[in-house]
Amino acid sequence: MKAVIPAAGIGTRLRPHTLNKPKALLPVAGKPILAHIMDDLTLAGIDGFVLIVGYYGDAVRAWFARERPELDITFVEQTERLGLGHAIWTAREALGDEPFFCILGDTILKADYGALLNGEANTIAVKEVADPRRFGVVEMDGGKVVRFVEKPEVPPSNLAIVGAYLFTDAAALWRGLDHVVGGDHRTRGEYQLTDALQHMVGEGCRFLTAGVDDWFDCGKQETWLETNRILLDRLDETPSRVGVAGPCFIAPDAVIVDSVIGPHVSLGPGSRVEHCTLSDCVIGERSQLAHCRLADSLVGNDCSLENLVGRVNLGDFAAASGSLETGPEKTEAPHA
Ligand code: UTP
Repeated sequence: MKAVIPAAGIGTRLRPHTLNKPKALLPVAGKPILAHIMDDLTLAGIDGFVLIVGYYGDAVRAWFARERPELDITFVEQTERLGLGHAIWTAREALGDEPFFCILGDTILKADYGALLNGEANTIAVKEVADPRRFGVVEMDGGKVVRFVEKPEVPPSNLAIVGAYLFTDAAALWRGLDHVVGGDHRTRGEYQLTDALQHMVGEGCRFLTAGVDDWFDCGKQETWLETNRILLDRLDETPSRVGVAGPCFIAPDAVIVDSVIGPHVSLGPGSRVEHCTLSDCVIGERSQLAHCRLADSLVGNDCSLENLVGRVNLGDFAAASGSLETGPEKTEAPHA
């Protein structure tokens, strides 16, 4: 079965990191968000991908050509960012009427993909949440979805839509999207997938739900760091490098000098960390940090940081120096 992944969005909530690259390529626990999604789906039996790209789409094409040449990927360009419904509608010819799976390009799921991919009817992945008001929510009746509601003030259930769907009746989805896009039915200015799903329900299509164990949204700064932390916790082993303690991803060529790294640090290729204490950080490629004490921080590629203490959120090519005069606390570096 094929999977379609809309990844054309601008990712405004993750600026500055998305000012010069797509959200889907931001690193989490050692590889891009999109690589986590596609590696998991490949293990679950997906044998072809349709990737909807737009904003910095060439970077996505180049990454997969270089790092995953074995994957069967058809790229479809969404030239205007008109919403998720529009993105999927753009891929209608690449997908055709066969059943297919759809997952958003910023959503890593840990789920029983087998159950989700082999559903007997259209199936929507959901997760019970304490406060459903900031999510899309499904209203159920006797095991079937009867309504999709975006950010309801009075939620009809606590089942949030996580952004993964099995479409067994693809032709009905195309009719729903034709209705939305062709009829220019916009909600909050965009062509929404939920409006097409509602159209399908109106036509009598059956939608089941499938619960997911874990749902990692990477769309905001806090959720990106949280996802990094949880996925690192699940790695089989911590790299045995001097100075590294707790679950971390350290690129093999990253240089660590007299520092305490971890827990939950991702350190990208070509980076150099000297006299630093870091925890809960994602550090990109080729960045240089000296005499910094950072936690809960996001640092892009090619940055140069010195004498900083606290929490930073800096995009590519940032250069910053602080007033940490004494250097980092003298801490015994753990030995591997
Ligand atoms: P979001 O609603 O999170 O939008 O899209 P976004 O652009 O990624 O991020 P913000 O809101 O500006 O911070 C959810 C998924 O749908 C894709 C995105 O790439 C993301 O994977 N999408 C969204 C498209 O492919 N095209 C669109 O027009 C909108």
